This record gives sequence, C-alpha cells and structure tokens, in this order.
Amino acid sequence: MYNLLKGKKGIIFGALDENSIAWKIAERAHEEGATFVLTNAPVALRMGAINKLAEKTGSEIIPADATSVEDLENLVTKSMEILGGKLDFVLHSIGMSVNVRKGNHYTAQNYNFTHKGWDISAVSFHKVMSVLYHKDAMNEWGSIVALTYMAAQRVFPDYNDMADNKAYLESIARSFGYFFGTEKKVRVNTISQSPTPTTAGSGVKGFDGFFNYAEKMSPLGNATALECADYTISLFSDLTKKVTLQNLFHDGGFSNMGISQAIMENFSKK
Ligand SMILES: NC(=O)c1ccc[n+]([C@@H]2O[C@H](COP(=O)([O-])OP(=O)(O)OC[C@H]3O[C@@H](n4cnc5c(N)ncnc54)[C@H](O)[C@@H]3O)[C@@H](O)[C@H]2O)c1
Repeated sequence: MYNLLKGKKGIIFGALDENSIAWKIAERAHEEGATFVLTNAPVALRMGAINKLAEKTGSEIIPADATSVEDLENLVTKSMEILGGKLDFVLHSIGMSVNVRKGNHYTAQNYNFTHKGWDISAVSFHKVMSVLYHKDAMNEWGSIVALTYMAAQRVFPDYNDMADNKAYLESIARSFGYFFGTEKKVRVNTISQSPTPTTAGSGVKGFDGFFNYAEKMSPLGNATALECADYTISLFSDLTKKVTLQNLFHDGGFSNMGISQAIMENFSKK
C-alpha cells in the first residue's frame, strides 16, 4: 500500500455488507492510513454486519438517516469529536428506489415513493454537503465523492426512477461543488461506476442482463467494487487536488462504446 491517506480523516456512508462498494472503500481507506467514522441508516445498522467492518478498520459507527438534517448534524459534530478535528474526505454511497423495490413501472410510479427515493438517493447528498459546509467541517483540499450510474445520461429502462435521481445527484455535485470550491477549496465529484453485484445493484430488474452486456461491451470489462475503491482512494488523496465538478466514468470504457465485436457476434448472420 502507498500511505495515500496517511493522517486523513473522513466519514463513509453506505457500507451495508461485504458486497457494498462503500465496504471496499472503507477497507482500502484503512489500508492507506485513513481514520474514519462509518455511518448508515439505523434500520441498516440493525443487520449488524457493519460491526465487523468497524472492528477491522478501528472505526466507530454513528447511525444517521441521510434524509434527516438533524441526524446529519449529530453525525458531523460527533465525527469531528471522535476523529479530533475537521474532515478530509466524505463518501456518499447511498441509493434506494421504493418504486424499484415495489416493482412499479417507470410509467406508473407511486409519487410518494418517487419522492422518498429522490430524497434518499439525491437530495441527501445536498443535505450532507450543506451540513458539512455550514459547520465548516471540511479541511482545505478535502474531497467529497458520491457514487452514480450512467443511467443519468443514457436510457436503461429498468433502472426506473433511479435514473432521474442520479441525474439530480450529479447536478448537485456540480452546483454545490462550485460553492465548496470557491469558498473552502474542497472538491466534489461523482464516480459513475459499472454495474456491480451488491444489494442495491442486484435489486434492479434485469440486473444480470445489463451486467453481462456491459461486461461484453467494455474494452476492459466491468469495473469491480474493489477497483472502484481504488479509484475513490485516488480522489481522496492529494494526487487529485484540482479535479472537481466532474462526473468520472469508472466503467472499463463502456460509456464511450458504440458496439463491440463480442456484442456484434450475437447479431451477425453466421
Ligand atoms: N451496484 C451497482 O451496480 C452500482 C452501479 C453504479 C452506482 N452504484 C451506486 O453505488 C452506491 C452504493 O450502492 P451499492 O451498490 O454499494 O449497494 P448497497 O445496497 O450495498 O448500498 C446502498 C446503501 O444505501 C444505504 N441507505 C439506504 N437508505 C439510506 C438512508 N435513508 N440513509 C442512509 N443510508 C441509506 C443502505 O443502507 C446501503 O448501505 C449507490 O449510490 C448506488 O446507486 C451502484
């Protein structure tokens, strides 16, 4: 390991179980010398898996529903107390669509569910940054990252209302990133990750189909959760200080492909 995050402090949202992208990021951040607080929604913490991660990484866990500003204020204040100062990095790795969970078609959403999913998956990023900003909780040259998916730009019908939530999330990164950059020298980016077999990912209808399709379409194949963790570490490190307001594709090249030989073979006349 490279000590890329030596002495850096942070908060990591969204580690649910060993498959979670946030779980891998926490493990890698620990290996690179960071100290951090782990957080998740109280209901997710009741599953208990996160205790193992906390033990392994020497971290404390603070429950917070990312849609509750009150919870977030408590989280940020306590994290600074525990870690002994301001923060250098924050990971937002949160997503949930109630319409997807309930199997509602994109064209026939329950708008209460739409609103809830939007609040959890997109507006929570604004709330997290607003609390960090007003508490002046970030060190200069700190880094804030949220995870997103390419359905924000292109049509993936089964991704449902999460596509709209991701477009909103990416816009928040740019808009808030402007203020965080000019006033606090903090960078804000989103990483657009390949389909990854996690609880949230596999919950999307037809996940296997677009996982395999993306694998065959991408020159480098799908990026794994561990590879996403490596990339995220680079964005938390001092090696990427002037990267901000970006949506960064971490997808083995998928986003710039039109057609690949492997996909063609399925459609060519023999
Ligand atoms: N898995 C994929 O294919 C994929 C691809 C691109 C982007 N992403 C994004 O990566 C991020 C992490 O997802 P994952 O794939 O690791 O799945 P995951 O299910 O392991 O993580 C999602 C997390 O969101 C948390 N969460 C839900 N509601 C919350 C709330 N109200 N407050 C706080 N936390 C809450 C869950 O408890 C869970 O830990 C999400 O933003 C997801 O959209 C996933």
